[in-house]
Amino acid sequence: MRLRLAVLSILALSILVACALPAPSAPANPLVMLGARLFRERRLSGNGAQACVDCHQPALAFTDGRPTALGSTGEVGVRNSPSLLNVGILPVLGWARPDLTSLEAQAIVPLFGTHPVEMGAAGAEQSILDRLRADPTYPQQFAAAFPNDPKPLHWEQIISALAAYERTLVSGTSPYDRWLARDTTALSAAAQRGLRLFQEVGCTACHSGPLLTNSSYHNVGLYNLDGRGAYPTGQAGLYEVTGQARDMGRFRVPSLRNVARTAPYYHDGSAATLSDVLDVYAAGGRGTGVNSPVKSPALAPITFTPQDRADLLAFFAALSDELLPP
Ligand code: HEC
Ligand code: HEC
Repeated sequence: MRLRLAVLSILALSILVACALPAPSAPANPLVMLGARLFRERRLSGNGAQACVDCHQPALAFTDGRPTALGSTGEVGVRNSPSLLNVGILPVLGWARPDLTSLEAQAIVPLFGTHPVEMGAAGAEQSILDRLRADPTYPQQFAAAFPNDPKPLHWEQIISALAAYERTLVSGTSPYDRWLARDTTALSAAAQRGLRLFQEVGCTACHSGPLLTNSSYHNVGLYNLDGRGAYPTGQAGLYEVTGQARDMGRFRVPSLRNVARTAPYYHDGSAATLSDVLDVYAAGGRGTGVNSPVKSPALAPITFTPQDRADLLAFFAALSDELLPP
């Protein structure tokens, strides 16, 4: 009995070490429960039409299935909604927002941002608080979540609760995780070949670590509108932040966990399928982007056989969690 326990705990330890994801979160506490409710709360938007969950749907690994997001007022944004799974361990958030290094700082963007308007809370700050304060259960729920804060419910609390909930969105139940934990039956032969190929052709130069991203910024050659590597207006990536020519079209390397569930792909949702993404890597870019002078030097064309493609797709499928947070 004791031996079996010891074996189990070694196994548990090796799972943690191999996938390096945080341990499953503690049972929901009042703060997390409040955050989970607020995440689904449409009254948090200016016109009461949209909640975080509308763009980050659990069944789609917390994405929305659209090329680019649709805000509460009908404004179509310029970025694809990323998954929120494991967002608590990302060192930097957003497709090209090196300034967003905490979930609290990030939450300000969908709530109050005006370029584009997402939840449209800017200008409606007080009326949103009034709505929540008038609710039969929120005041009590906030008091339970913030027992040492005597002020009536306020925005800082809303943001802390949302962030606390987001930190519980941990995943690590994919076949790939079981493989990392030395379950040699976890990956099909095709997925194993896909994983090897993924390493051999250099995908891991950028898609590395537990979330298959090193959180660096790269231009993968999607556009080259002017021969100097220009991306479309509003899609210039890191360049919009730094103004440096070399940052044109550079976006943060996305996590590939649950990637089979997060179509469409890229910062602007301009690839409908994973097969389309493989076409881009095969050609070393897309269209004239192949010859972009600011494309990452790591992205030379790659010859994929039909078998290679099927293997890579099998590997991607093995990155899907079997259990997703509700
Ligand atoms: C209108 C759709 C929409 C709504 C509503 C929305 N988001 Fe997002 N979310 C996005 C898009 C698009 C991005 C990527 C933005 C970017 O990088 O420019 C994003 C990015 C994020 C990120 C960063 C993820 C990463 O991988 O870096 C977090 C965290 C996040 N949203 C949380 C929230 C929370 C919390 C709410 C509610 C307060 C919310 N979102 C509401 C569309 C939305
Ligand atoms: C030089 C860094 C780099 C290398 C090497 C690289 N990628 Fe990427 N990958 C990125 C970046 C950056 C993006 C996002 C680009 C954008 O949206 O403009 C991306 C996007 C993706 C996506 C879409 C994910 C999503 O959610 O939108 C997939 C799938 C992908 N890469 C797979 C691969 C595969 C397979 C390889 C190897 C053949 C590879 N990558 C090599 C940097 C890299």
